Amino acid sequence: MKKAIVLAAGKGTRMKSSSPKVVHKVCGKEMVNHVIDSSKKAGVDQIIAILGHGIDQVKSVLGEDVKTVYQEEQLGTAHAVMMADKYINDEDTVVVLCGDTPLIMPETMNKFFEYHDNGNYGVTVLTARVEDPTGYGRIVRDENGSLVKIVEQKDADENTLKIDEINSGIYCFNGAYLKSSLQYVGNDNAQGEYYLPDTIEIIKSQGMDTGAFLGATIDELMGVNSRNQLSVAEKTMKLRINEMHMTNGVTIIDTDSTYIDADVEIGNDTIILPGCMLTKGTKIGTNCKIGPYTCIENSVVGDGTSVKKSELIDAKVGMDTNVGPYAYLRPKSDIGDNCKIGDFVEVKNTQFGDGSKASHLSYIGDAEVGKNVNIGCGVVFVNYDGKNKFKSIVKDNAFVGSNANLVAPVTIEEDAFIATGSTITDDIPVGALAVARQRQVVKEGWVAKKREKDNKK
Ligand code: UD1
Ligand code: CA
Repeated sequence: MKKAIVLAAGKGTRMKSSSPKVVHKVCGKEMVNHVIDSSKKAGVDQIIAILGHGIDQVKSVLGEDVKTVYQEEQLGTAHAVMMADKYINDEDTVVVLCGDTPLIMPETMNKFFEYHDNGNYGVTVLTARVEDPTGYGRIVRDENGSLVKIVEQKDADENTLKIDEINSGIYCFNGAYLKSSLQYVGNDNAQGEYYLPDTIEIIKSQGMDTGAFLGATIDELMGVNSRNQLSVAEKTMKLRINEMHMTNGVTIIDTDSTYIDADVEIGNDTIILPGCMLTKGTKIGTNCKIGPYTCIENSVVGDGTSVKKSELIDAKVGMDTNVGPYAYLRPKSDIGDNCKIGDFVEVKNTQFGDGSKASHLSYIGDAEVGKNVNIGCGVVFVNYDGKNKFKSIVKDNAFVGSNANLVAPVTIEEDAFIATGSTITDDIPVGALAVARQRQVVKEGWVAKKREKDNKK
């Protein structure tokens, strides 16, 4: 079995956060879950996470299939891996990764696994050449280019410090050799820690070859230790996500101002205009036009629909519908096909049937609106009496005139017609007209008379 041990016990002091580092998100997904998902994509069968600081918080974001182990004290990377001993069998291939390197790609891992298998190594380490190796463990090779050992920055002499090939912190172990080497790792070094890289020399001494695969780029290995690095990771990941969508046939006009979470789906021939945030598992259909300046969170948008300068949260919109500009679809808004939700219209907890329209300036809350209903300008669904919320029902083909108030609970039957400016408190039968306002009174010459009276005073 291929198993991955993800090291995530550290606190991440430099984040200055009350949450452990690895639960901080990059493009909407916790760093530790980026690492886990990439491992799974690269064919890892089982994940074992080593947790310490903020264990409950980390556990709460992990999938149920992830095994967790508690490392009470962080005594070093070898000590951390040792905690997972009971999950490791001799015949396993064991990948070790860090929970704070969210940018590692499955493709790179795949090549790395292949290199490990082909070389039949006891352990293989993934490496990169970098301009500034400061802080990383250095890869020491012999005259044949074979891996000899890894020396930590703090233990390195002057010559070793000059080496520009670094340890990514990602390893592939033969299970038997991992188990047999870990027990010999000591902590007699500058940091007084049990170093996982020390297993390399031990495995060599046990007669196995060890490999170093120079197969990664630094931006992929980047560890996130601060908010600054978090924003760098976000930028890199954001571009990667945008490129993936463009490859799949989505047009993105401005990749700099387009923020798409890792778990968002978008159909081909959809156009994303500048200034959009698509987050939390949002699903956008094909041939849509989204934006500019639109936020869509945890929502579903059907094929051919346009959403302009609007905000959608936990909402659903059907096909060939127009939303916006400046519409606000709140949770449980379920808008049908061929609808219009126009400017300054707010919808909440409402089913809005196919072909219905609310073109301007309305509040539609806690309602069931049928098909081909017209909601005039400025209509308010009065759903709240200060204590409780009530439901309004407006059936197919009803016409709600401009500036009407529907005081819930109320039912408007099919084909009913509500005169403009009405405040509707009673149900309206099929096909009836309801007028609920005072008749107009006209008093001829009233203004002149008033002026005369005022002048006398
Ligand atoms: C480690 C490597 C270094 C490599 C670098 C790459 C060692 C000794 N050094 O250094 O060669 O270049 O990664 O980023 O391994 N952790 C635990 N429990 C522990 C110790 C660490 O879970 O007891 C976790 C940390 O939370 C972190 C990861 O392991 O996510 C790496 O540990 P850290 O101490 O930061 O190692 P580096 O000094 O970065
Ligand atoms: Ca360290």
